[in-house]
Amino acid sequence: MSNFKVFVTQDIPSIGLDLLRKEGLEVKVWSYDNPIGPEELSMELKDCDGIISMLGQKLDSHLFKQCPKLKVISNYAVGYNNIDIDAASIKNIAVGNTPDVLTDATADLAMALLLSLSRKIREANYNVHSGEWEKWEPLGFLGTSLKGKTLGVIGLGRIGMAFAKRCTEGFGMKLIHHSRSEKEGYKKTSLETLLKESDVISLHCPLTEETNQLLDYEKLILTKKDCILINTARGEVIVQEDLIKILKEDHFFGVGLDVTSPEPIEFNSPLLSIPRVLITPHIGSADIETREAMSLLCAKNILAGLKKEPLPAFVNPDVWSKNT
Ligand code: DGY
Repeated sequence: MSNFKVFVTQDIPSIGLDLLRKEGLEVKVWSYDNPIGPEELSMELKDCDGIISMLGQKLDSHLFKQCPKLKVISNYAVGYNNIDIDAASIKNIAVGNTPDVLTDATADLAMALLLSLSRKIREANYNVHSGEWEKWEPLGFLGTSLKGKTLGVIGLGRIGMAFAKRCTEGFGMKLIHHSRSEKEGYKKTSLETLLKESDVISLHCPLTEETNQLLDYEKLILTKKDCILINTARGEVIVQEDLIKILKEDHFFGVGLDVTSPEPIEFNSPLLSIPRVLITPHIGSADIETREAMSLLCAKNILAGLKKEPLPAFVNPDVWSKNT
């Protein structure tokens, strides 16, 4: 497969890139500290056949017009809200992503946020590091038990289900969900019922027109005052200003965000100074094994796309049948 060129917009574990090179492809990685900008990206892609992209790059019709050779995109993520899929399909560009391999890692991170909040780990850790730990406190850092509590999952897909299993099987929680489709054996509710009845709410839906800004003030205020809210999906699902407002009204026992809007979050955001808000820098899939598996899957998507074979993780599987 020589003569094919692939551009990678940030360094990733070498396993996938080694596979591409072994197959004879020329692979170029953007290895500068600063994220690649739109103009640099279109320059780099002018003579490229494939791209491994990150969520930070917007791949749209404007860009595609400037990349006449581009045949396949593999997004180093399960979400692909950064890509205009219709525009890619119109240009016969196959799009792949990295589902399944990151399901457990992302569910683990959601669980880590939940436990940290329910047991006040952030505040307790600060107490130790700031030298304020003076004695054992019978009434200090009292968390809240998860046992028997109601978990509301918004988006009971692969990751939502993996997280729900951790909560139900590991912590004896009861599950309700609000999702696009029914899931046999699991109780689907309206969004309003889920918001009102859940002790813990966790977001696992993709970012779409329907979920963009889904949780605004009117919705958030429906939740129990001592609810724990976890977002490992996309920052834009929550109206962040409204979340700040409601947190200032003493609502929520804790809020855990692995995703924010924008990313990175502004350093002066009020969210950073609220002790019961725990924020991580979009690390849902960040364990070594998972990131290696994502690298390999991205490479396999690229190889399949260049051969015009079905991608192992195909976002627009009818791309060629529609346009050829
Ligand atoms: C994804 O895969 O969509 C995650 O948000 C990136 O880690």
